[in-house]
This record gives sequence, C-alpha cells and structure tokens, in this order.
Amino acid sequence: MKNFTVVDHPLIQHKLTIIRDKDCSTNQFRQCVTEIARLMTYEATRDFPLEDVSVTTPMGTATEKKLGGKKPVVVPILRAGMGMLDGVLDMLPSARVGFIGMQRDEETLIPEEYYAKFPKKLGDRQVIIIDPMLATGGSAMMAVEALKKRGAKRIKFLSLVAAPEGVNKLMAAHPDIELYTAALDDHLNEIGYIVPGLGDAGDRLYGTVDVN
Ligand code: PRP
Ligand code: URA
Repeated sequence: MKNFTVVDHPLIQHKLTIIRDKDCSTNQFRQCVTEIARLMTYEATRDFPLEDVSVTTPMGTATEKKLGGKKPVVVPILRAGMGMLDGVLDMLPSARVGFIGMQRDEETLIPEEYYAKFPKKLGDRQVIIIDPMLATGGSAMMAVEALKKRGAKRIKFLSLVAAPEGVNKLMAAHPDIELYTAALDDHLNEIGYIVPGLGDAGDRLYGTVDVN
C-alpha cells in the first residue's frame, strides 16, 4: 500500500515483544515505548530536507549538511501518544509540540475530541502525529482532520500497533498522509481492541484502571 510502512527493524520487533507481554512492568513498558519511538523517528525522518552549512572542524572548513526548513511539529494524541513523545523529541529536540485530546467511547468506539492546542504555521511544517494504537482508525482520522482544518499539509502518523481495519480506513480517507507502524496485527476483537495487540496502551503506560 502506498505511503504505508511497517518498520520491522529487529530491535523494534524485540522491544515490541517485551511490551506485548501482559506481565511487563509499567516501568519497562514506558521505557520500551520510548525506545521504539526513537527508532521509528529515525526511519520516518529519512526524507527530511537538508541544507548546506559551512563548518570549521579542527582540520579546516567544509560545507556539510544540517536539517533545513521550518521546525517540525510533533502531535501526541492524548493520552497514550504522550508515551512516545520523549522518544521522538530525543531525535528531534528542536521540534515544536502540539496536543490533541481524544477519548473513544467504549460502547460506540466513536472518539470525542476534548482538547487541542497547536503551534502556528502548521502549513509550513512537517507534522508528526503519534499514538501507539491504531484500532478502528477513528481517533487517527479525527486527529488528521483537525490538523488539516488548521492548515497542515504534510502529515506523518507513527503508531506502534495497527489493525488492518484502521489502516485501510485511514489510508482510504487520507491517502496523502504517510503512515508508519511497528506492527500490523491480525484483527480487532468485538470490543474494538487490537489482537494480539498490547491491551489498553494508556492504562499500561500510566498504571490506571477505569473507575467509571
Ligand atoms: C486509544 C489509543 C488511540 C485510540 C485508538 O485511546 O491511544 O487513541 O484508542 O482507537 P481507534 O483507532 O479505534 O480510535 P483511548 O481513546 O483509549 O484514550 P486514552 O489514550 O486516553 O486511553
Ligand atoms: N486502544 C488501545 O489502547 N488498545 C487497543 O487495542 C485499541 C484501542
């Protein structure tokens, strides 16, 4: 599929297996999500533009490369997307950060946007949306639409685990975005969870349980 990449580097596969384990601790889960996000950022920034700069080394002056253009903007989908933010920023320390809050209704699986705040000039920046789980694709679609509505033109989406249903829905609606995932899983179950997946990513990152 065009614009769809499974980033299946051995280190990523190894770390993903660790976090799939239901007995993985909160601490190790967080650590591995950060590390996978770092590795995925390396792959997803392959086409970032470079510009020439002059640098004086201890041996003389040379024309070399540095990242060009306006600073990218990273947009975690709250909550679980926050788990990937540090890893992405480790690789792109000058990036701007926007936030979008999205909560799936557990019965209908329809997401509701509850918060949004973005940097200016989205149209001039590479936007990188991050969320570990792409299940039905509803939250991802709503986030892409919110960003396009505010002018974003170049959008990449990084997920850790995706279901075929969500990938197909997102890419059919937004074929211009570039989607990266660490794993394309088997299917969604009857309550909208990815199988084999890794369970509720937000709960596993933050050690929460539903009290409603
Ligand atoms: C999870 C996940 C995605 C969404 C994926 O968030 O982090 O945002 O579900 O499901 P979808 O593709 O079917 O929309 P959730 O709504 O559970 O919120 P949370 O991150 O606050 O736990
Ligand atoms: N959200 C999650 O956190 N996990 C899933 O499997 C699906 C949606």
